[in-house]
Amino acid sequence: MTNLSLDPLLSYLFLLLSVSSTPAAAFNFIFLNCGSSESSTAPDGRNWTGESTSSITVTPNTLSLQAKILDSSVPYLPYGTARLSSSPFSYSFRFPPGRKLIRLHLYAGDYGNYSAADALFSVKSGPHTLLNNFSALQTSQALVISYIVREYSVNSSSPLLNLTFIPSTSHPSSYAFINGIEVVSSPDIFNGSIPLITNIDMPQPYTVEPDWTLETVYRLNVGGNFIGPMEDSGLFRSWEDDSIYIYGAGFGVTYAADSNVSIRYPANLPEFIAPLQVYATARSMGPSATINSNYNLTWILPVDSGFYYLLRFHFCEIQYPITLVNQRVFNIFIYNHTAFEGFDVIAESGGIGVPTYTDFVVAIPKQAESDDMVDLFVELHPDLYAQPEYWDAILNGLEVFKLEAGGDTLAGPNPMVSITPSRDQNTNAITRIINSKKVKIRSIVEIAIGVGGPVVALLAFALLYLLHSKKKKSLTSDSPHSDQSNLISSTYCRQFSFAELVQATDSFDDALIIGSGGFGKVYRGTIDGGAKIIAIKRGGSLSGQGIDEFRNEIKTLSKLTHHHLVSLLGYCHDSAELIIVYEYMPLGNLGDHLYGKKKKELIPWVRRLEICIGAAKGIHYLHTGAKPAIIHRDVKTSNILLDEDWVAKISDFGLSKDGPEDLGLSHVSSAVRGTMGYLDPEYIMLMQLTEKSDVYAFGVVLLEVISGRPALDPANAEEENLVDWIRQCRREGDVEVIVDPDLRGSVGERCFEIFMRTAESCVLDKRVERPAMGNVLRDLELALHLQLKDFAEEAINEEKAAGHEA
Ligand SMILES: *[C@@H]1O[C@H](CO)[C@@H](O)[C@H](O)[C@H]1NC(C)=O
Ligand SMILES: *[C@@H]1O[C@H](CO)[C@@H](O)[C@H](O)[C@H]1NC(C)=O
Ligand SMILES: *[C@@H]1O[C@H](CO)[C@@H](O)[C@H](O)[C@H]1NC(C)=O
Ligand SMILES: *[C@@H]1O[C@H](CO)[C@@H](O)[C@H](O)[C@H]1NC(C)=O
Ligand SMILES: *[C@@H]1O[C@H](CO)[C@@H](O)[C@H](O)[C@H]1NC(C)=O
Ligand SMILES: *[C@@H]1O[C@H](CO)[C@@H](O)[C@H](O)[C@H]1NC(C)=O
Ligand SMILES: *[C@@H]1O[C@H](CO)[C@@H](O)[C@H](O)[C@H]1NC(C)=O
Ligand SMILES: *[C@@H]1O[C@H](CO)[C@@H](O)[C@H](O)[C@H]1NC(C)=O
Ligand SMILES: *[C@@H]1O[C@H](CO)[C@@H](O)[C@H](O)[C@H]1NC(C)=O
Repeated sequence: MTNLSLDPLLSYLFLLLSVSSTPAAAFNFIFLNCGSSESSTAPDGRNWTGESTSSITVTPNTLSLQAKILDSSVPYLPYGTARLSSSPFSYSFRFPPGRKLIRLHLYAGDYGNYSAADALFSVKSGPHTLLNNFSALQTSQALVISYIVREYSVNSSSPLLNLTFIPSTSHPSSYAFINGIEVVSSPDIFNGSIPLITNIDMPQPYTVEPDWTLETVYRLNVGGNFIGPMEDSGLFRSWEDDSIYIYGAGFGVTYAADSNVSIRYPANLPEFIAPLQVYATARSMGPSATINSNYNLTWILPVDSGFYYLLRFHFCEIQYPITLVNQRVFNIFIYNHTAFEGFDVIAESGGIGVPTYTDFVVAIPKQAESDDMVDLFVELHPDLYAQPEYWDAILNGLEVFKLEAGGDTLAGPNPMVSITPSRDQNTNAITRIINSKKVKIRSIVEIAIGVGGPVVALLAFALLYLLHSKKKKSLTSDSPHSDQSNLISSTYCRQFSFAELVQATDSFDDALIIGSGGFGKVYRGTIDGGAKIIAIKRGGSLSGQGIDEFRNEIKTLSKLTHHHLVSLLGYCHDSAELIIVYEYMPLGNLGDHLYGKKKKELIPWVRRLEICIGAAKGIHYLHTGAKPAIIHRDVKTSNILLDEDWVAKISDFGLSKDGPEDLGLSHVSSAVRGTMGYLDPEYIMLMQLTEKSDVYAFGVVLLEVISGRPALDPANAEEENLVDWIRQCRREGDVEVIVDPDLRGSVGERCFEIFMRTAESCVLDKRVERPAMGNVLRDLELALHLQLKDFAEEAINEEKAAGHEA
């Protein structure tokens, strides 16, 4: 292996490094650090080879340059250096013939005197066009990512793999650049004939030809965490968390394998198909058979139109009691077509802990509006016709590949940059293997904040929720085990010692107080040697009612985990102290930003909408995702906390109460508790609590958000009660005055109407006339959608107008 006098064509043998962590599958690979002659090891242990290696050649007289500024979120390897030229250049890799994965790494920075905006180029591998007129800058801005990774599967029959970078001729000073190239030899993982799904016919057999090029568009570890290249089963793939693609509020539940289940690959499924971690976690629909029978567990994956896509579903049953055929059977829908009726993981795989996968191909026809990205819906629904024991569905992993299918290009147009600063903090950029395409504003928002599109499934979800409350009895009488709670893992809750919390807060130093109220004080503290910041709610000397509220809060929160509920980290119950420990919310509460002490820091309208949507998701989850349903009873702006990315989280469950449903009642009788200004009038009069009391309070929150005024303003006699004041403004047609002066001019007309209609319907006096949280959520998503759409169009028109003038 080290004999340097070998035939050069065989010198790719030098690349036959074995991957020590995955002895089951060792493939040839090279990670090339373009623009650098040095080899270096990245923090994840990968060796990035410099260009001086003998197995590659690059066109001479091209530049190697350093990125002028490297954002701290961008790793130096391989993004710190680039090869760059304003004329075409090529890399040739000596690499064994056959199928291989090629990953292109691109960081849209300025290099030397070359500006990021001028990088416009195509990339070809032999006759196959991988990218065309590609702008890394525009793509990064549109998708809000700091660097770009594109993955292709290419079969080249020559021992020389060529990649050519061609600057666009349409732009005067254009140039091409590349920061890193990975080439990993890959087994042929697309064998045999695959069903092509249509909505008119039975699936037709479809063959992925051996010489086709594919592009990875999505690779999701469903119900699990991000899996990095070093944890993959030999092919250095990244597997992304699926949660941001989930549609609407139907998140289902995620879980890991039972500790007594060991995952065994069957003989016909090699480990390189997907690593064990993919099969070891899953998402299913949830514990309630009734709810499951009425909604689809849905992922929305925006894709380019005019291509065929191969979807690979990875399945594995990993929790008891599902060990037998016909326990969990479900239908699979792709692009609204039925792909499979009655999928039974146990029947396909042979047993619990045995992975299996299945492939489908679907054609996404070219849209009339040709630059549009299309939402590819992937939906699962229990197959009631099969009469399975559990009405549920499961998925462990999902890959989506774009097929070249006879043409020779995979390239789509550059995505359009959103004019609103969307945020993307909860997604690791490297996991974003999203296609180059013109993303419609809505899709960007979906990607960035995980919000569903025109929300039809959500409508179904909301509807089913209504039905569900009414028809529950008739449906459950013949339904299977409605208590499937053994399928959900319980939440981890840490018990802290008093001494630990004394230390965390410098003996409850007043300087660390971040909030206070009837219950006592909230402190900011640090634990684990300063590594973790926490929020600590100390009850002080509590008696009777107070202790009950504390217990209630711990009891409620420990049962729940949701992106939009504040997380309970643990509690302390010694030295006669009752203390609750939460995750710390650095941006404080919504009320403070709207009209309280943080008022200086203005929250723009789109962000306010996103916060409302997040809060609505949290409350909707309490009402429908938990069993029995939970009524919060104290929804208000000061209980909507904001994390460092402005993600809204509902807090304070001291007053929360189990909903009426399980008691077979339409309401729970209860002494009136809550906060003045947010109290449901019917609740006050009749002392009957329902979910609609939360809806009322949330309506008040919405009115505060748009007006920037508190629910009750004792200082201002005329406008004392916000709901009354707004009703009066509307009656008098004085609409302008409602909008927070800080927001004037930035709220779209259509958005305003939908938002106000929703808020006002929430605060209707009669609870039967108020919408359910699911409908509220749907309307808010629609409001956001319209806001972005109208403002994007406006910006484009302005841009056009400016262009004409110039
Ligand atoms: C990287 O290179 C070093 C030395 O060249 C070697 O010891 C190490 O195993 C390599 N790491 C990987 C992941 O190949
Ligand atoms: C690559 O393509 C050749 C023909 O073009 C085919 O014979 C071979 O099986 C393919 N290899 C793989 C791994 O697909
Ligand atoms: C950058 O500078 C070099 C000389 O240093 C010059 O040849 C090249 O044309 C310049 N490129 C641009 C895009 O200005
Ligand atoms: C190339 O992309 C740029 C940036 O998106 C765009 O302005 C231009 O119209 C494109 N050119 C062609 C020929 O498609
Ligand atoms: C790859 O590029 C080299 C040099 O540019 C050329 O000689 C060779 O024919 C090319 N091979 C293929 C398969 O395109
Ligand atoms: C595909 O077919 C080849 C040869 O027929 C076989 O070696 C390989 O294991 C198959 N791959 C899969 C994933 O079934
Ligand atoms: C495995 O553990 C689960 C609970 O975690 C239990 O319900 C099941 O009976 C166990 N199965 C076996 C075969 O031990
Ligand atoms: C589930 O999705 C399929 C295909 O889009 C659709 O026909 C069906 O009505 C959906 N079911 C529910 C309950 O949303
Ligand atoms: C698929 O169904 C969803 C909701 O059910 C809808 O929003 C979407 O437009 C449909 N897609 C197609 C291609 O019909």
